[in-house]
Amino acid sequence: MKIAVLPGDGIGPEIVAQAVKVLHALNIGLEMKEAPIGGAGYEAAGDPLPADTLKLAKESDAVLLGAVGDWKYDSLPRDMRPERGLLRIRKELNLFANLRPALLYPELASASTLKPEVVAGLDIMIVRELTGDIYFGQPRGISTLPNGEREGVNTMRYSESEIRRIGHVAFSIAMKRNKKVCSVDKANVLETTELWRQVMIEISKEYPEVELSHMYVDNAAMQLIRAPKQFDVMVTGNIFGDILSDEASMLTGSIGMLPSASLDANNKGMYEPSHGSAPDIANQDIANPLATILSAAMMLRYSFNDEKNATLIEDAVKKALAQGYRTADIYTEGTKKVKCSEMGDAVVAAL
Ligand code: IPM
Ligand code: MG
Repeated sequence: MKIAVLPGDGIGPEIVAQAVKVLHALNIGLEMKEAPIGGAGYEAAGDPLPADTLKLAKESDAVLLGAVGDWKYDSLPRDMRPERGLLRIRKELNLFANLRPALLYPELASASTLKPEVVAGLDIMIVRELTGDIYFGQPRGISTLPNGEREGVNTMRYSESEIRRIGHVAFSIAMKRNKKVCSVDKANVLETTELWRQVMIEISKEYPEVELSHMYVDNAAMQLIRAPKQFDVMVTGNIFGDILSDEASMLTGSIGMLPSASLDANNKGMYEPSHGSAPDIANQDIANPLATILSAAMMLRYSFNDEKNATLIEDAVKKALAQGYRTADIYTEGTKKVKCSEMGDAVVAAL
């Protein structure tokens, strides 16, 4: 199996190195090739998604990505900024289904800012649509009106087929879990999401065993904090999913724990932590590599159909946590604070 490894910017290279180390330790003949993306792509080839990087990603069976972005690129033209490279590769590879599991490891219950009894046993799967919505809708841009004032425009749009295919992903996942789907929208205000709700109701008829509920996004944001265990699968659009998945990550103790898989219609995928590039802590070897390591496990499961090795990695992460190893973001008194590379070593040792 060929994996394109795209470390990206900020803490990206440090955390990806740990996931690569873990994959190598499995010794299952994975072929890994590195290429730059984001700010690193801009530095190397004047493009946040260099043509060679895209080619490598297309030729590979899966993509493992770190994170992109750094404040130093904020003044570049928008098309040259690191984030645009990430959005383009998602679009180019047609990775419309973004799975973000928020799972609380019991050892980390006290690392969450919420009361342990609110989060204990938490296991939510957020299914975020990733190639549509206001992220990609046209028209977009900043222009100057005839009166000289500037105006910013983005367009929220979804076609029926885009809603339908992400809906099917969510319902299929729910069938393998607790058979509950909560569709998150803002149907009381936004027509785009009124259609979203209608289509979700239509396709739910094909999954009579699954219980479908609907929630407005503002309420969902509140319920995630109030009583997160009411959720099994949440399905939502690109922008709401971006926001709610960051929120959900904090239920698990740290955003450094949340992996993600972005899949196309054939389960080819890109795997990345849900968090960003955190340039403020880059190059200090203090970031949490577990979200990236857990993303590598998702890669084995979803793209390579290798449940055995995916579970081996996840069990190794659990063991490292049970042994008391903690990076700074999940550290609590009485545990062992380790660096990013040491956490990688601990997972390899547990493996
Ligand atoms: C994410 C990130 C990206 C997004 C950014 C970096 C473009 O926040 O993967 O959640 O908004 O999708
Ligand atoms: Mg985000």
